[in-house]
Amino acid sequence: MPRTPDYFTAKTIIITGAASGIGRATANIFAREGANVVCADVNEAGAKETAAQVNAKGSQALALKVDVTKRAQVDDMVKRTVDAFGKVQFLFNSAGAAIRRAKFLEIDDALMEKTFDLNVKGTLYGMQAVLPHMLREKFGVIVNVGSMAHRRGGPGSSIHYAASKGAVVTMTMGVAREFAQQGIRALSISPGPIKTPFQDAAATSPELVQKFLDDVPMKRFGEPEEIGELVLFMCSDACPFMTADTVYVNGGGGWR
Ligand SMILES: NC(=O)c1ccc[n+]([C@@H]2O[C@H](COP(=O)([O-])OP(=O)(O)OC[C@H]3O[C@@H](n4cnc5c(N)ncnc54)[C@H](O)[C@@H]3O)[C@@H](O)[C@H]2O)c1
Repeated sequence: MPRTPDYFTAKTIIITGAASGIGRATANIFAREGANVVCADVNEAGAKETAAQVNAKGSQALALKVDVTKRAQVDDMVKRTVDAFGKVQFLFNSAGAAIRRAKFLEIDDALMEKTFDLNVKGTLYGMQAVLPHMLREKFGVIVNVGSMAHRRGGPGSSIHYAASKGAVVTMTMGVAREFAQQGIRALSISPGPIKTPFQDAAATSPELVQKFLDDVPMKRFGEPEEIGELVLFMCSDACPFMTADTVYVNGGGGWR
């Protein structure tokens, strides 16, 4: 929670991947706090539905159809945000996916490229688009999404994904340190298994679901809201000394 009451009122956050899962949950949490929420997603209908949920909480929303793998669309997302709300204080890059599961020797160029385009370039484009504005304002917080997979390496199913999330965690650290003296903070969150449509895809393999749960001492999946509340904390004025690192949220597991 923020130290200052009403800290988020009339401040603006851009959330990519806002049509679903962690992005949607985070949009609703920022709406509860009175923030303006830009709901960006390649899934336009889903982004509009999230925006309607934000509006229903009495906060302002802007739904945008954005493919984060296209730099021009990401640049336009930031421009339209500033046109609509004047400023943007926060960016949460939640759009991401494992694309598909594959054993290491089955990872082909197309899968590697798609995974890195979405998770790495998508995050890079968002940060590069919003930073000039944040630097002018001498204020901004960027939160990116890593994964426990970057610690495990994703053996047997998702080394391509784990490697891309490792890149996100490292890039976040670099950005945080490059701009630390200019009012910018950047952090990443590395979740264990969270109950979202992302995991529905993994659920096509019951052994994989069991493997996840075997490794979580709490014996449950996380809820997307548990990540959203952490995004809120990170963006707030509660602990402004916090930057660069990734925070693991995993029910105590996921380390093997
Ligand atoms: N759910 C988990 O267990 C888990 C664990 C670790 C990390 N993550 C990460 O958390 C983030 C959010 O995942 P989630 O669980 O909410 O998944 P989700 O599938 O529910 O949501 C992902 C959203 O990203 C959007 N998206 C996909 N490609 C896009 C593109 N090119 N441009 C714009 N939007 C695009 C999708 O339309 C979807 O709305 C992802 O980066 C994911 O890798 C999830």
